[in-house]
Order: sequence, then C-alpha cells, then structure tokens
Amino acid sequence: MDVSPQFFFLMLCFQLGRTSLPLVINTWPFKSATAAAWDALQSSGLVLDAVEKGCARCEIEQCDGTVGFGGSPDETGETTLDALIMNGNTMEVGAVADLRRIKNAIGVARAVMERTEHTMLVGESASVFAENMGFVAEDLTTNKSLNVFTQWLKGNCQPNYRKNVNPDPLKSCGPYGPVAMQTQCNGVRHVNIHSHDTIGLIAIDKDGHMAAGTSTNGLTHKVPGRVGDSPIIGAGAYADSSAGAAAATGDGDIMMRFLPSYLAVELMRNGADPSVACKSAISRIKRHYSDFFGAIICANTTGHYGAACNKAPSLTEFHFMVQNSESDSPVLKSVTCF
Ligand SMILES: *[C@@H]1O[C@H](CO)[C@@H](O)[C@H](O)[C@H]1NC(C)=O
Ligand SMILES: *[C@@H]1O[C@H](CO)[C@@H](O)[C@H](O)[C@H]1NC(C)=O
Repeated sequence: MDVSPQFFFLMLCFQLGRTSLPLVINTWPFKSATAAAWDALQSSGLVLDAVEKGCARCEIEQCDGTVGFGGSPDETGETTLDALIMNGNTMEVGAVADLRRIKNAIGVARAVMERTEHTMLVGESASVFAENMGFVAEDLTTNKSLNVFTQWLKGNCQPNYRKNVNPDPLKSCGPYGPVAMQTQCNGVRHVNIHSHDTIGLIAIDKDGHMAAGTSTNGLTHKVPGRVGDSPIIGAGAYADSSAGAAAATGDGDIMMRFLPSYLAVELMRNGADPSVACKSAISRIKRHYSDFFGAIICANTTGHYGAACNKAPSLTEFHFMVQNSESDSPVLKSVTCF
C-alpha cells in the first residue's frame, strides 16, 4: 500500500488526539461512582450504561447525603429526587423531577427516555410511571433525614427559602401567605457545599460517543415542588457527541437561569479548550451573582477535560474524579476557584 507521509502524519495526529479515550469524569470526589461508570463502560461498551450505573452508585451510597434517599428533606420532611440522562449521539433525553418514593431516579430518567416519547416527567405522576415500569415504591425517609427535619422544626424552620410572605420566614414555620413585595424580611439562603452536591457524570467511549447525566435530592428544607438545575437539560448537564459534554453542580436555583452546561458545550463546539469553556460558563453567572456557589466539568470530543468553580465562602477549591485510558483507577483532580 502506498501511504503518503501526509496521510501517515494525519493518522498519527488522529491517534494522538484520542489517546485519552474512553473517559469518565464526574463532579465531587465520588470515587465509587467513577469506578461503577468505568466498569459499566468496559462491560457493555455503552456510555448510557456508564452514566446510569455511575449515578445509580451514588443513589445507593447516598453520596454526601445529597444524592439518593434519606437526604435533603423538604419543608414537610420528604425527600424528593431529580435526575437527567442525555444521549449525545441521538440527542435523546430522559428526566424526572420531584420524584417521590422511588430510590433509583436516574433509572427512571432513562425509562422516560427509552419507554416514552417524552423528555421529562414530574411529581406523583412520575412515581406512578416508575411503578408501572417495575421500580419499587418505598419510603425515602431515614432516621437521619427525619432528624434533620425535626431539628429544623425545633429551630423555627431556619434556614428558610420563602420571601415576601407573612408571617416572617426568619421567625416562623408558616403557613405563609403573600404580603406586599419587600415589606417583610426575607428568608436567608443557605446554599453551601453541604446542602447541594449533585452528581454530574460524563462518559465518552473510545469512538467519541458521549452521554451525560445527573442525580440529586435537591436542596435541604426546600419548598415542596422545588426543582433545581440537575434535571433541566442544558443546566444540570448536556452532551452532544459532535461538540462536547458538561455537567454542573451548585446552587441550582441560580445556575439554571444561565444554562451553563449548554453554554460550555457550545463554546467547545466553537473550539474553546474545555477549561476555558467551563470558566466562561461560570463567569456568565458570576456577572450577576458574584458569590454564588457552583462548579462545572467539561469534556471535548477528544477526551480532553477541564473544570471551573466560583470562589465563594464555602468553596475555594473544587474536587472531581477522572478515569481514562491513562489511569487504571479513578483519579482525584482539583481546580482552584476564581
Ligand atoms: C430508627 O429509629 C427507630 C426509633 O428510634 C429505631 O427503632 C430504629 O432502629 C432506627 N433505625 C436505624 C436504621 O437506625
Ligand atoms: C480538545 O481540547 C484540547 C485541549 O485544549 C485540544 O488540544 C483539542 O484540539 C480539543 N479537541 C477538539 C476536537 O477540539
């Protein structure tokens, strides 16, 4: 075969560019999630399996108490779950929000994608759908979440996310009614590293097929019905195998207003380095909310990755996990917030 030097050089570049694939990357030091995703990728070769198994691992292990059952009780003491999964090849998405009584939220999200023509199901109806699909309904409350709830009630329901209501949410457990805007004290936002550690996970196979997903139990003491950024496509996560993938974590009420995952992927589509794309997505939010709590991970089509976080009182350094062909186990990485 007559191979020109130019062709040989091109092939070499192609190979070099791909040496770090496959790749699994996820938010926070949730190492067993990375390992579960990597194992799934090795055994089935499917990035959707990797994302589902990785997030499910955190749901089972109740990662940091902020993923899965028994964490983040809402104002009524109930734990509700949000999850999202996206196929970066077909652009199919499945999501659930305000899911009740079902532990495996990422599994239900995948069922929404694969067993309906829809993209997102919410609340009680999502639970009914899940039960019909064979997921077991059980109480998500644990002694731990019950205790968090009881302490909150004893402490006059502080912190509290209500505002412009009567009685004063800084002093009372309600029930609340509306008052004229700004005549009443507002509740104090207490979103920090301990109250919102969503797992966001990206998987890319050796051929560059991408998927991304998230799973969380949301914000502790949230108003019932509150849905954060995690199950919102383009906010919690986004994947497009022709451009890149990203997943975000942090103060979802703020972050979802900026679709940071979508923004980062679009920047990578235009050639931005993954770290730069991640930083730009954070900067966009920072312009309006300078001390918001949040971070994002980004990966491009060649398996290069980066992360960025906003420097906040409760976050100066963000940790995430990576496994690729250069490592035989999950590696802890960190980035300094700016
Ligand atoms: C939860 O609390 C109940 C009542 O205090 C106790 O009987 C039970 O053993 C506890 N469960 C766990 C798993 O600790
Ligand atoms: C991915 O990012 C790396 C690091 O910036 C860059 O060298 C590479 O060319 C990027 N890949 C693509 C396909 O843009």
